Amino acid sequence: GTTLATAAGETGRYFGTAVAANKLSDSTYVGILNREFNSVTPENEMKWDAIEPSQGQFTFANADRIVNHARANGMMVRGHALAWHSQQPGWAQNMGGTALRSAMVNHITQVASYYRGKIHSWDVVNEAFADGGTGARRDSNLQRTGNDWIEVAFRTARAADPTAKLCYNDYNTDDWTHAKTQAVYNLVRDFKARGVPIDCVGFQSHFNSQSPVPANYQTTLSSFAALGVDVQITELDIEGSGQTQADNFARVVRACLAVARCTGITVWGIRDTDSWRASGTPLLFDGNGNKKAAYTATLNAL
Ligand code: XIL
Repeated sequence: GTTLATAAGETGRYFGTAVAANKLSDSTYVGILNREFNSVTPENEMKWDAIEPSQGQFTFANADRIVNHARANGMMVRGHALAWHSQQPGWAQNMGGTALRSAMVNHITQVASYYRGKIHSWDVVNEAFADGGTGARRDSNLQRTGNDWIEVAFRTARAADPTAKLCYNDYNTDDWTHAKTQAVYNLVRDFKARGVPIDCVGFQSHFNSQSPVPANYQTTLSSFAALGVDVQITELDIEGSGQTQADNFARVVRACLAVARCTGITVWGIRDTDSWRASGTPLLFDGNGNKKAAYTATLNAL
């Protein structure tokens, strides 16, 4: 293949990127998007604060711009994210108990129903586990509604859109020996054992010098896959430059390709200047839209 999407497609995988609706009028950006990628994840437009800014008032326009662009160009859409402690609207941030639980269920039902049939995979729950060595749930208003909030979110999403794959998505879950990784693994194993609907696990894979690509990354992916879920690399970016960065991207690609149920890779933005990172050059294209060494290494590894 001569593009990321066609090369990934040779092994039945997709290659995606996060997309911002307000960049769809940037011709350089759209040119790369349409040439290289066959999956998109709205970077912010499907988050709770964006879609339901006032309780019960749903604003799908910006998310629809991305979904419509994807559909017009034959791209898949990854939905991101239905239930998350961050980027909640103010009205939800101040809620708790049964009122918040009902609001979460209504939000998931409305959004997943609205997009039914148009979403390849939904990040149903994002970042529900704490960092550090405890393996505990992250404290949040959602967690305080009861430990069953995650399974309620998944059952609600399945009922609203039986056609989408339902994913749990998190970061710092790449190292197999990390307590957070084991905690997510135990959640997925428990869900599979009890018949709670879950189809996939997303590994955000935001790597930097503090959290490099772990040596056991492939073991992590294959161990989750062995539970009977797909695994996806959902928000890949790797700080650095030159051949070192290129080698790290190639390692991530090779780990995915070595795991049959690793079904696709999404990078978290197109050009370095599109990155959410305040500084650094963590993506595959430079600020002018030129291919970096990291791009070539990624393409060659696919
Ligand atoms: C980030 C976006 O890229 C930024 O534009 C926004 O300001 C904050 O959120 N994990 C996630 C993503 O699941 O939703 C986050 O996206 C990056 C970390």
